[in-house]
Amino acid sequence: MTDLKMEPVLAIYPGSFDPVTNGHLDLIERGSKIFARLIVAILRNTEKAPLFSLEERAEMLREVVAPFPNVEIDCFHGLLVDYARQRRAHVLLRGIRAVSDYEFELQMAMMNRKLQPGLETVFMLPAAEYSFLSSRLVREIAQLRGSVKGLVPVAVERRLRAKVV
Ligand code: PNS
Repeated sequence: MTDLKMEPVLAIYPGSFDPVTNGHLDLIERGSKIFARLIVAILRNTEKAPLFSLEERAEMLREVVAPFPNVEIDCFHGLLVDYARQRRAHVLLRGIRAVSDYEFELQMAMMNRKLQPGLETVFMLPAAEYSFLSSRLVREIAQLRGSVKGLVPVAVERRLRAKVV
């Protein structure tokens, strides 16, 4: 048998997380079980006007990933591949909810591979019950005073309510 020494895999789960949903959290939990370390990296997006500031998004994420000791929260700006190189990550983790996500995710994954060939993108599937869930819909429902119970962690639900009063 060959004596293959595998390095513990460090993965980055990048996104806007405005706000983190139960779908993101489901993926974080799945990712934390297969990667040695998982960095949830929040994009400091200068184009979009987010509902939650970067600090608020990071605070909410830190609160909800507390049960997973190998998960870290960080922020990044600029190219994702540059951030991944700086953090010495091996993998980019992205979630695919439905076939409709695939086209854009494939395009991003192939472009990231072109920019940094050694970095692998791994796609994982969230639980089927979250296949329709997105931060954009959560924001819209909350802003129109609908219920987001069961769609986001309780801490996020509370913050959303405070945001729209
Ligand atoms: O949660 P989102 O908004 O779907 O996440 C998108 C994200 C942050 C993964 C993507 O916009 C990104 O990687 N932005 C960083 C800039 C970059 O590297 N762009 C080239 C992508 S091929």
